[in-house]
Amino acid sequence: MSTNTQDIPRKVTTRRLVEMKQRGEKISMLTSYDYSMAKIVDEAGVDCILVGDSASNVMAGNMTTLPITLDQMIYHAKSVMKGVRRALVVVDLPFGSYQGNSKEALASAIRIMKESHAEAVKIEGGSEIRESVERILSAGIPVMGHLGLTPQSINKFGTYAVRARQEEEANKLLADAHLLEDIGCFAIVLEKIPADLAARVASELTIPIIGIGAGSGVDGQVLVIHDMLGINQGFSPRFLRRYANMADIMHDAIQHYVADVKSADFPNESEQY
Ligand code: KIV
Repeated sequence: MSTNTQDIPRKVTTRRLVEMKQRGEKISMLTSYDYSMAKIVDEAGVDCILVGDSASNVMAGNMTTLPITLDQMIYHAKSVMKGVRRALVVVDLPFGSYQGNSKEALASAIRIMKESHAEAVKIEGGSEIRESVERILSAGIPVMGHLGLTPQSINKFGTYAVRARQEEEANKLLADAHLLEDIGCFAIVLEKIPADLAARVASELTIPIIGIGAGSGVDGQVLVIHDMLGINQGFSPRFLRRYANMADIMHDAIQHYVADVKSADFPNESEQY
């Protein structure tokens, strides 16, 4: 039986994201960490899926993104790739997998690409990781930057408050964004910075700027899927719009199941062999 090519959606590539920015089409991005969720996210039409190191929080229950390992990120990315046909899949380089030196950064990025078959990596930081970004790019691996609130540096910041409110930090962020574009990154995530600064970055750069808590003047938006679906209810920053209350829906369904088992209502005649 031959595959009907009309059934295969046109794959989103890094180049297509840039074209979307050029024609003013906003880019949608969500995280996913497993096969089943990634399949739903992809089939719902999300352009870009991030296998974020937020898996450390929402999948593993850690307080920060720091504990997740490269092996664990690859495990999540492999599972996601099996569920995705259309979206571009980007994988976070986790804390400790690139800060040592640029050779280590490249080795980590190569492992992600080779073992998971994902299409790009994301890396937190600006000028301080320039050499690593350049080395990864030189191997033909697309890199998405990440500036503003960079959760892997939470112990340095000491707070998840809005970043780059002061002129000095805003100027550094602007310079870092230009640097990342100049050396070849295909897109940048801006996390939790003032909307006017984010809009300025988006207007000065030709590569797509994807915001999270960065206002509407950027080229696309990203959210953590567990937050926007209301699976994770302990996190309610101002920038988060909740599209569902899945924790309540799941809780009710599970309570219903428990009651059905206890009362011997489940399984019924038609649910057995
Ligand atoms: O890990 C993650 O989910 C992220 C997003 C918040 C951008 O980096």
